[in-house]
Amino acid sequence: MQRRQLLQLAASSAGLLALPKLGWTRQTWAGNPFSMGIASGSPTSDSLVLWTRLSPELIEAAGLTNQSTPVVWQLAHDEKFSRLAAKGIVQAEPALAHSVHAEVSGLAPDRHYFYRFIAGDAVSPTGRTRTFPLSSATPARLRLAYASCQQWGNGYYSAYRHMLEENLDVVMFLGDYMYEYPSSRPADVRPTTGGWITTLEGYRSRYALHKSDLDLQAVHAAFPWLVTWDDHEVQNDYAGTQQGESGKPVADFMARRFAAYQAYYEHMPVRRADFAQIVGKTGENARVFGATSFGQLAMLYTLDTRQFRDPQACNPGNRPGSTRFNPKECEEWAQPQRTLLGQEQEGWLKRQFEKTQAQWNVLGQQSLLGRRNFDLDGGVRLWNDGWDGYPAARQRLIDAMQSTRLSNPVVLGGDVHENWVGHILSDYNNPNSLKVGLEFCGTSITSLSNTSQSRIEKIRAVNPHFIFANSESRGFGVTEFTPKGLTTTLKAVKDATDPNSSAFTLAQFEAQAGSTSIQRTS
Ligand SMILES: [Fe+2]
Repeated sequence: MQRRQLLQLAASSAGLLALPKLGWTRQTWAGNPFSMGIASGSPTSDSLVLWTRLSPELIEAAGLTNQSTPVVWQLAHDEKFSRLAAKGIVQAEPALAHSVHAEVSGLAPDRHYFYRFIAGDAVSPTGRTRTFPLSSATPARLRLAYASCQQWGNGYYSAYRHMLEENLDVVMFLGDYMYEYPSSRPADVRPTTGGWITTLEGYRSRYALHKSDLDLQAVHAAFPWLVTWDDHEVQNDYAGTQQGESGKPVADFMARRFAAYQAYYEHMPVRRADFAQIVGKTGENARVFGATSFGQLAMLYTLDTRQFRDPQACNPGNRPGSTRFNPKECEEWAQPQRTLLGQEQEGWLKRQFEKTQAQWNVLGQQSLLGRRNFDLDGGVRLWNDGWDGYPAARQRLIDAMQSTRLSNPVVLGGDVHENWVGHILSDYNNPNSLKVGLEFCGTSITSLSNTSQSRIEKIRAVNPHFIFANSESRGFGVTEFTPKGLTTTLKAVKDATDPNSSAFTLAQFEAQAGSTSIQRTS
């Protein structure tokens, strides 16, 4: 039976399951209140976040729009929930869109669990998740998928249906979970409802739209996710406190950003403490950067290159947004103080590098780290929104990897809607400089690239630290780490506009631990 059918069956049979006595009048729903699915995430060796959000339509139909409603969560060792490991009740509050975050701690390390939610007479589908090994453990392998950029109208989430077949420990989502703009192409395969979104209600309904997708729901239910964001969770090309350029400017960008961050919290399996300023309405920042160890085998970092960055340099007429530019014509570009991570995160990351004992150090961040010169005629033309727009910040990151002798750095990225695979150089101005680590920048789940394959091959040729570039395929990457080495498989769907698309292996790469040389193996 397909996962999709399982989910549908679980949802439709919700009312038939034997329910525990809850001690209050049981809410009767006019349908399935778990229509946005369930999720788990932010795993450590002893804790997890379990997530769901009750359907706003059913909340309204039940007359609960302005009321909290209790939701029971259960975490069990077995799929029948006969051996519970933990349980509790969370109030789904109207102030947080009736979202539910159960932060479960005190769990056994390196263990698979099943979980579900119960609200009134409805039982959610069952999810499967896991805790990570203790930081002192020596796991034989870590298998993760990295994914990004799932523009709703550009395609169906067939890639996720194929991701289900991978036996993953975790999914790292690297930004652009949704897009703030309306359907703009007549060829969109499915309509984006709601137009431009700038308000809390708008962001909420855009998340609800994405979360209605059963393939996406199935991957959330199957594996824990570690998430970070990029620009479109707020607005295209926004930079810290400065708005970007997509759609009409709003009068109060910080209010828009605040609304977007709150909606992000409401829809992701993330921790309340990291969003305390947002949820408590006491400040403007949220924390999506962090590090979690998978035993001694790997440290997984998530970075935030969006919230704390300086504005992009070199935009013509100082307008907001992004552009390609010649660095010789832009003084601001090379200023040493310009930051992409912000001072606090940069300092935190360096301290993490100093103390990590992990064999592999895996940085999940938004964009392409390596230099990508677009000029095919011997000059230099760079894009100012990615790391290429912040050369001093990039150099500080690479210098920190070197000065701390960071073991096996691997950078994962997204944003550019193209697959790029290559070596991290100690100095991108010198193509013969030392190779410091490996980089895998993923394609998108659906979002389109406007670069042809023949052109991207030419761009790759003038950036030889990359050994592979592909603009044609949508999909995701799977990287398996062992003490001996890593294997990365780029999975692609045949046609992202086909909800039933097949998938294939676009390419595969291997590297040995301790080596910064990567080989393509298929
Ligand atoms: Fe994107």
